[in-house]
Amino acid sequence: MSRTVYVNGSYLPEEKATVSIFDRGFLFADGVYEVTAVLDGKLVDFAGHVTRLERSLNELKMELPVSSDELLEIHRELIKHNKLDEGAIYLQITRGAADRDFVFPKNAKQTLILFTQAKPISAPKSGIRIVSAPDIRWGRRDIKTVQLLAPSLTKMLAKEAGKDDAWMVEDGFVTEGTSCNAYIVTKDSKIITRNLSNSILHGITRAAVLKLASELDMEIEERPFTIDEAQQAAEAFVTAATAFVNPVIEIDHVELSGGKPGPVVTRLSQLYIEESRKAAI
Ligand code: PDD
Repeated sequence: MSRTVYVNGSYLPEEKATVSIFDRGFLFADGVYEVTAVLDGKLVDFAGHVTRLERSLNELKMELPVSSDELLEIHRELIKHNKLDEGAIYLQITRGAADRDFVFPKNAKQTLILFTQAKPISAPKSGIRIVSAPDIRWGRRDIKTVQLLAPSLTKMLAKEAGKDDAWMVEDGFVTEGTSCNAYIVTKDSKIITRNLSNSILHGITRAAVLKLASELDMEIEERPFTIDEAQQAAEAFVTAATAFVNPVIEIDHVELSGGKPGPVVTRLSQLYIEESRKAAI
C-alpha cells in the first residue's frame, strides 16, 4: 500500500512526491536528517531529535524551515495518515535547489521531506554479529548529514562477510556502528562507550540509555575501547532509534555471552522500552 509522505508543505501519495534534480541534497549531500522512533503510534524522544536537528543545521549554517511545533504536527499527521503503530519517521532537510555551485546559494528555499517506515523495533532481539572495519568517514560525524555512502559501504562489508553490522575503527579504537552507537559491558557490569566528540554521532538513544543506566546505579565509563577489549567483554550492545538497545553476540568471530543476549543488556533493553512507552508523545 502506498504511504502518504510529506514534501515542502504537502501530504502526498509516495508516487507523487518529487524533489528537483538540482536539490543540493542530491548533488552535494548538503542536508541533514533525523530518524525518530514510533511506539504505540507515539514519538520517542521527539524533543531530543529536534534539538540535535537544530544543532546539525546550525553547524551547516542552515535554519529550521518550520517551527518545532509545526514539525511535531507533521510527524503526528504522518503517523495518523499511515496508521503507524511501530517504526520510524525519517526527516530530511536540505539547503534546497540551486544551479550547481560549490558556493552556497543565496536565495534557495530549503527542502523538507518526511516519510514513515513501519518496523517492529520493540520485539525481543536475538543479538547481532559484527565485524570490525576501518572508519572511512569524514571528520564531522557529530553532524547528522545525509552523506551516508561510507557507512553504507561499510555495512555492505559486514553483509558480504555474512554478519549483521560493522563496528568502525579509527587509530585502533572503535568509533561506532555504521548507524548506531557501540558499547561493551565488563565482567563487573560496567558500561563502556566512546566519549562524545566530533568522531561519533551524539545518539539520542545513547543519552537516554546512559541516563537510565545511571539511575539504576550502574557504573559508566565514557572512553574509547579497542576490538581486543570488546572481545574480552562480558556483553556488548548497540543503540539507535531504529533498534533501541540491540545485543551484540559476536565480534570478529569471537562469541560473547555464550552467543546469546546477556543479562545486563536484556534488562537495559526491557527497561528502555518500558520508559520510552511511558514518555512517548
Ligand atoms: N542512525 N551513530 C550513527 C552513525 C548513526 O547513524 C545513528 C543513528 C546512531 C544512533 O543515534 P540515535 O540513537 O539518535 O538514533 C549513532 C539512524 C537511526 C539512521 O541513520 O537510520
